[in-house]
Amino acid sequence: MKGLIIYKGKYGATRQYGLWLGDALGWPVIPAGSETTQQLLNADCIILGSSIYIGKLQLRKWLKQQENLIISKRLFLFLVSGTPLSDKEKLQGYLDANISKPLRNRCQCFFLPGKLEFSKLSWKDKLLLTIGSKLAGAKSDDISMEDYNDVKKEHLETILNAVGKLREVNV
Ligand SMILES: Cc1cc2nc3c(=O)[nH]c(=O)nc-3n(C[C@H](O)[C@H](O)[C@H](O)COP(=O)(O)O)c2cc1C
Repeated sequence: MKGLIIYKGKYGATRQYGLWLGDALGWPVIPAGSETTQQLLNADCIILGSSIYIGKLQLRKWLKQQENLIISKRLFLFLVSGTPLSDKEKLQGYLDANISKPLRNRCQCFFLPGKLEFSKLSWKDKLLLTIGSKLAGAKSDDISMEDYNDVKKEHLETILNAVGKLREVNV
């Protein structure tokens, strides 16, 4: 089974998860937009990774552009964010708002905790986060502005198990 990992993030959390997955599976890890059409065509299985900024998936546009090409593949999607994994409704909402229903139905989705280092953000992201968290605060929803780093290899266990099962039947 030929596999591929495509990701889009901004400050390294999504990339780190992608690289760990690539190491574990022996699959190429490619930033979205750097892949060739041939690589997409050749893959039987694609793991897609994206972080979330103000409710939007970084991979949103790419998914729209490549939907027809990838929809027939075995697809896994991991989302990296600051939303606690216990807030299932909010996380599911990100999927519903960003991905077409046919594509969502084809993807096995996983949520992974991210990281934030405020001092390293671009001025634009600092501003967005400040405004975003103020707005969220008003709705008693939370987008954290405090630094955190919960990017850990062990969070990949469930996705690796799911891909492993698929590999057992599609050698
Ligand atoms: C400007 C900004 C907006 C964000 N918006 C959200 C959001 O709407 N929901 C959320 O759960 N996390 C949000 N986050 C947290 C990021 O998803 C988290 O930092 C993630 O680890 C980023 O991964 P990356 O470095 O791969 O891009 C935001 C972070 C920043 C800096």
